Amino acid sequence: MRLIPLETAADVGKWAARHIVERINAFKPTADRPFILGLPTGSTPMEAYKYLIEMHKAGQISFEHVVTFNMDEYVGLPAAHPESYFTFMHRNFFDHVNIPKENINLLNGNAPDIDAECRRYEEKIGSYGKIHLFMGGVGNDGHIAFNEPASSLASRTRVKTLTQETRRANSRFFDNDVEQVPRFALTVGVGTLLDAEEVMILVIGHNKALALQAAVEGNVNHMWTISCLQLHAKAVMVCDEPSTMEL
Ligand code: GLP
Repeated sequence: MRLIPLETAADVGKWAARHIVERINAFKPTADRPFILGLPTGSTPMEAYKYLIEMHKAGQISFEHVVTFNMDEYVGLPAAHPESYFTFMHRNFFDHVNIPKENINLLNGNAPDIDAECRRYEEKIGSYGKIHLFMGGVGNDGHIAFNEPASSLASRTRVKTLTQETRRANSRFFDNDVEQVPRFALTVGVGTLLDAEEVMILVIGHNKALALQAAVEGNVNHMWTISCLQLHAKAVMVCDEPSTMEL
């Protein structure tokens, strides 16, 4: 695992955006051979999206032949809800770059058959062979995507019950009212993430210090699913200074 210790959240976002741009440009994607990019939501990737948009506007990167897969989505929140991950991604990234609509993949948290939706997502990822680069964040409790503590490290895309801790942490997006935060989410599995060619996790803020410690210094274990990165041949964690205070 590579650990990239930086100073500020802006440094983390800039490093991540440059890394994605380098990877895509080195790959030289075409319509027949697109670059497959896994993407997260949350406050952590906001700076990275901002710099990616800037680099796109400066002509340094095209998303014409990039296919994206988001890592998770709430169950039961209408897609048009301001806090759905569908809305988040369009508002903060997709609407500002030249990615074709048909290249965007998001889990549908309102699908009538949730299990079929999860199978469809895994099959669609599989149809491209693999995800080339999966960017992600980490929860305060060490969850990766929505793989809450005690998720199987072999898990695939499925529905998960959110912990009270996660719902409390995410209530800041829902008028600080935990009751408004959905109880379930669809998420790619730990196994799905580990299948990616490269996984890049951004870690920002002192709230993530214990999760970073568990990821870097702890044992691989299913209570801190971020620790699965130790099993990956090409994992990189990009951190700001406050997040490294327990290392
Ligand atoms: C959320 C998301 C995760 C994200 C994490 C951290 O619940 N499902 O994918 O990495 O929790 O969120 P934030 O970046 O807002 O701290």
